[in-house]
Amino acid sequence: MSNLFSPLTMKDLTLRNRIVMSPMCMYSADKDGFSSDWHSLHYATRAMGGVGLILQEATAVEGRGRITDGDLGIWDDRHVAGFKKIVQQVHRFGAKIGIQLAHAGRKCMIPSEDIISPSPVCYDANDPRYRIPREMNDQDIETVIRAFQDSASRAVETGYDLVQIHAAHGYLLNEFLTPLVNKRTDKYGGRTGGTELLREVIHAVRKVWPEHKPLEVRVSARDYEADGNEPEDLAKVLNAVKAEGVDSVNVSSGNVVPVPSDAYNSYQIPFAEIIRIETGLIVTGGGMVTDATQADGIIRSGRADMVFLGRELLRSPYWPLAASKSLGAELDYWPEQYKRAK
Ligand SMILES: Cc1cc2nc3c(=O)[nH]c(=O)nc-3n(C[C@H](O)[C@H](O)[C@H](O)COP(=O)(O)O)c2cc1C
Repeated sequence: MSNLFSPLTMKDLTLRNRIVMSPMCMYSADKDGFSSDWHSLHYATRAMGGVGLILQEATAVEGRGRITDGDLGIWDDRHVAGFKKIVQQVHRFGAKIGIQLAHAGRKCMIPSEDIISPSPVCYDANDPRYRIPREMNDQDIETVIRAFQDSASRAVETGYDLVQIHAAHGYLLNEFLTPLVNKRTDKYGGRTGGTELLREVIHAVRKVWPEHKPLEVRVSARDYEADGNEPEDLAKVLNAVKAEGVDSVNVSSGNVVPVPSDAYNSYQIPFAEIIRIETGLIVTGGGMVTDATQADGIIRSGRADMVFLGRELLRSPYWPLAASKSLGAELDYWPEQYKRAK
């Protein structure tokens, strides 16, 4: 039976355990998307703490694909050098690392950038940081697909172990997938058209991302709004695109329209379970997971294959080491220097 500390293999990638560090923007890049020492230290610390897979925060495929000008970017070859440092540090401490390729779409809050979306619907008309986006034309769509592909090429050069395509939280690809934002009537209209865009992005990324490395998609499984998406809708989307070379899915929810999520301990696990059953993909689930027994139970009961932790890992970077102790798991990657604390 699998448990939290059992390894997991996807394609040629073997993770030492099922603990995933959720992608979390640090808003600490310089104004041109470049990483700093903050990033390499931040991620290396979680690798030292025993995480199996680290997902680097949303990293923009275009300048206008950032949420703020503190976001990381990978739209320029010059971004690669800083990312190589992050990858090397994480590998040094035994974890694997994936990059989340992102485009903010209508949620970009940088005043100087062109704000694009499937339809000219503002994210939050009551918040002056959000503007009415420009409806994308065919040329914009082509440019964005190309930006995901070029960024994936840079991710290959950097040496990431996994690529994750951000199609959650109301950012550009998610905007196409939800009827709450996508009002188009062309080929990319409706859920079917939104699915087509996601398929084309995955197809383009897979052309440059090596066959032997896993490709993951992150989705928002519930919009928390009438007529919005539900987990079954996302399962259909994933079933329609998985043949393009999707290995796994990371199931999140919400942030598509400005309404609160109904959050409680492991609140996104029921969505992960539905998507796991309906798609047969490898699934990472989570949402306010803080406790080792709870995380282990999610894996043992087969509700998800991996568990992501976000804020808990900001509070406790060595959470996996402590969890191994409370679950009685013997780890051969406890840092030698810390063994007296075991
Ligand atoms: C500071 C912060 C930044 C975040 N940035 C991202 C991000 O870059 N990409 C993403 O997919 N989710 C992002 N999230 C959402 C987390 O990945 C995660 O899904 C969410 O925090 C719920 O998990 P948790 O309850 O374990 O924190 C962010 C969350 C936080 C707290």
